[in-house]
Amino acid sequence: MSEIVWPDLPAVQQPVWPDEAALSAALAELRVLPPLVFAGECDLLTERLGQAARGEAFVLTGGDCAETFAANTADSIRARLKTVLQMSVVLTYAASLPVVKLGRVAGQYFKPRSKSIEVRDGVELTSYLGDAVNAIEFDAAGRVPDPARLVKAYHASGAALNLIRAFTQGGYADLRQVHAWNQDFVRESVAGQRYERMAADIDRALSFMQACGADPEEFTRVEFYAAHEALSLDYERALTRTDSRTGLPYDVSGHFLWIGERTRQLGGAHLHFASTIRNPIGMKVGPTASPDEVLEAVEILNPDRVPGRLSLITRMGAGKVREVLPSIVQKVEASGHPVLWICDPMHGNTFEAGSGHKTRSFDDVVGEVEGFFEVHRQLGTVPGGIHVELTGDDVTECVGGSTGLAEHHLGERYETACDPRLNREQSLELAFLVADMLLAR
Ligand code: PEP
Ligand code: CO
Repeated sequence: MSEIVWPDLPAVQQPVWPDEAALSAALAELRVLPPLVFAGECDLLTERLGQAARGEAFVLTGGDCAETFAANTADSIRARLKTVLQMSVVLTYAASLPVVKLGRVAGQYFKPRSKSIEVRDGVELTSYLGDAVNAIEFDAAGRVPDPARLVKAYHASGAALNLIRAFTQGGYADLRQVHAWNQDFVRESVAGQRYERMAADIDRALSFMQACGADPEEFTRVEFYAAHEALSLDYERALTRTDSRTGLPYDVSGHFLWIGERTRQLGGAHLHFASTIRNPIGMKVGPTASPDEVLEAVEILNPDRVPGRLSLITRMGAGKVREVLPSIVQKVEASGHPVLWICDPMHGNTFEAGSGHKTRSFDDVVGEVEGFFEVHRQLGTVPGGIHVELTGDDVTECVGGSTGLAEHHLGERYETACDPRLNREQSLELAFLVADMLLAR
């Protein structure tokens, strides 16, 4: 197997590992561990994303802002999967469109930070950089970047992916389970009840089909792909392998990798890394991006103009999306590049509540998706998907939604390791709203 030689380019947001020998040992271990995903799966996902770019499917990406080792449990993974499956059924049924399902899961263990140092009561420590790098607790020893955590993140990702493969291929994701996914706290909510009525319709349709003798295989399994931010070049490079079938390099740490808003510098190591691997990739685009620089990145990331290869995940903020998105979409579309446009309505809408909690308002999240659909409708381009931070639990991290979660509720169950996530009710409610937007697109 030929080793890929990586050029020495500027790389921002990389941890400073104090123990170089430990880093070398961890990377050597990662380089020989088995792949978590296969090249063929990545290629199939590229094909699916190509369909979404043409408006023949819709992409739903959902999961934690930051996964943690502590929450890498069967219950937590099942709850997140259930949320995505429920949302996906809502979108598929309401809009009659296939939904390509991706989780921010099985690898989302690295976080870029706006401040590299965190200060509490005069004590300065390295900021929390994700469980694959250091500990979330504000503790001097735990905050030192520890390369052994890279190996732990690989194993945690493998375990999560194994369970997800079992759930999605082994019967849990069977459409006849459509009611079972709704059985807990969410059932009594407004969105949960609306879902229940829709599930009853689906049940009737399935029984009818079965009575007619049709029982397609497609109803018993779902395709579910793992996505995370390609932030740590140490980790991602160690897991980049030359595929024996095609001779091409794939990052086998996940199916879909994206470059974040903070690491998308032209000429930087992250863009170069993403341009090298054959996986489908994404790039976040925030409100300060210029149309020219976005187009330049698009040329670097997808020179062969492969449909589905590149998603631009726009995260402008509800108040800015209508103003800043059009010129970027126009510039890229005029070039003829087959880009998949995805809306991340989370990262441009974060604010600090009076209680000090980092939060987001459900109305802003909906508002940005509305703006995204509006811009694409006006330009005649395709709004191809959404990318949200969510969890399957009854957390209180984002305000708003039909249960009227208010700022004074935030302290009740605020559990995120990084950004505030939609809880399951809010996620389901969002799915119904997006389904309506899809019908009108
Ligand atoms: C994220 O997706 O968690 C993230 C950090 O997003 P962005 O790069 O868009 O800020
Ligand atoms: Co986030």
